[in-house]
Amino acid sequence: MYPPFTPDPRGENRSAGRWTTNGFREAESDTTVTTESPRAKGIVAVMGLGYVGLPTSLGLVDAGYQVIGIDIDPSRLTAIRSGRVDLPESDHPRLATALAKQRLILSSDPVAVQSTEAVLVCVPTPLDAHRLPSLTALERACDDVVRNAVPGQLIVLTSTSYVGTTSDLLVVPLLARGLTPGRDIHVAFAPERIDPGNQIFPQEAVPRVVGGVTSACAERACALLGPIVGGLHVASAPVVAELSKLLENTFRAVNIALANELADISATLGLDPMEVINAAATKPYGFMPFYPGAGAGGHCIPVDPHYLLWQLRPHSLTTPVIGQAMEALAARPGRMVDRAVQLLSDAGKGLRGARVLMTGVAYKPGVADLRCSPALDMIQLLAERGAEVAYHDPLVDQVRLAEGHPVRSDPAPLPEDYDLVVVYGLQPGFDYAWLDRCRLLLDCTYRLGIGAEIPATGELRDERDDDFGQVDDVALSAR
Ligand SMILES: NC(=O)c1ccc[n+]([C@@H]2O[C@H](COP(=O)([O-])OP(=O)(O)OC[C@H]3O[C@@H](n4cnc5c(N)ncnc54)[C@H](O)[C@@H]3O)[C@@H](O)[C@H]2O)c1
Repeated sequence: MYPPFTPDPRGENRSAGRWTTNGFREAESDTTVTTESPRAKGIVAVMGLGYVGLPTSLGLVDAGYQVIGIDIDPSRLTAIRSGRVDLPESDHPRLATALAKQRLILSSDPVAVQSTEAVLVCVPTPLDAHRLPSLTALERACDDVVRNAVPGQLIVLTSTSYVGTTSDLLVVPLLARGLTPGRDIHVAFAPERIDPGNQIFPQEAVPRVVGGVTSACAERACALLGPIVGGLHVASAPVVAELSKLLENTFRAVNIALANELADISATLGLDPMEVINAAATKPYGFMPFYPGAGAGGHCIPVDPHYLLWQLRPHSLTTPVIGQAMEALAARPGRMVDRAVQLLSDAGKGLRGARVLMTGVAYKPGVADLRCSPALDMIQLLAERGAEVAYHDPLVDQVRLAEGHPVRSDPAPLPEDYDLVVVYGLQPGFDYAWLDRCRLLLDCTYRLGIGAEIPATGELRDERDDDFGQVDDVALSAR
């Protein structure tokens, strides 16, 4: 494999790297980048203890650091203290031990940053109601970090954001405080790639891109992150790392939108889209399978491409492929609801007053995370159009609609109680044999297969690409 061109726009003597057989560039011992930190086993602050920050903190504790976990949400700190957090089962003893031995100390006070040798910023970067970047949390966290920064410290931004964030929110304010990155303090951007619930690629097995403001900054960031990730790729600057992260998730969004379109094409032509995709996936090069669903959920795929689209608005550059993919993904839950209406209509029923069960509401199998779940959009639309909606998801205790109205949970559904069952997703390890008795079923996963047996374990027939709530619409397997 040829290494791609690595730009060095400022002509600085930046870190080189070598390419592994996996195609990743890793730090070379004869460059400034190493994975051994001379300051290892010190104290590190992690700002934001969510899906990214908490497992990152545990990884750093395992690597020998003492971690001060800082979160502005007291309820989050309480939940972490009591262990009531959405972590893989194996991480709960790690958390309990780290807290008991004070290797992980919880705080809501950013002043604690002053006593650390390094700070990782892992706060959310969501969208607002107009699908525009909401930078409030990131701006506040970076402001807190800059105000409490001390000379000699390393600051690593890991939150996904627009290109130039590291400069705007860290470098420029630090300079204004008299701290020059690369000389007085080190600053880098190292985007997080964690996929919660993914047992095959845990955080520590996934390589990390690091873009330092200078080579020394990259070196410090690599030294900190090296022990907790599966490899390092040094980019020539933070902006490269920032855009690479947006590219990764835009790539997924566009391909999921394409898979959804393929599902519609297959339905029109009377074919099973999963069979078509799996046939194409036998090509060993130049094709990567993506699977259709009811949209894309979580706080990455439906969100991150909008940071790019937003940033490009002032420029005279149109990006129709990305723009249309995001519109199609946003419209997908509505298309599913239209399919539900069609199914009911074909069965001689109207949606108003129909009893509908949404099976699976977490944005993807194996997690309890409801963020940006297309299932919630579907429930909202179904309810607005007069359906009586309940949900069944063994991992999700409660669901509320936008106005705060609770949705009824049905932990042990009887198929005969519902006019229509909509399968958004199936949680692994639970019994779904009851789906076989449904009068009318809309399979948004496309994976149950038209007329296929529904597996009692909830295992779907292809798990290779389960990153984001992929549900199909067209497997209109009305039974
Ligand atoms: N969740 C994922 O799967 C994933 C994967 C890759 C990248 N990312 C990115 O990582 C970043 C963090 O995502 P997340 O899923 O962990 O978010 P999250 O919402 O789960 O957690 C963020 C935490 O930060 C806290 N917080 C907010 N503002 C703060 C502040 N000013 N100071 C201290 N704490 C603050 C919140 O209370 C919350 O507990 C985002 O940019 C996201 O896009 C997330």
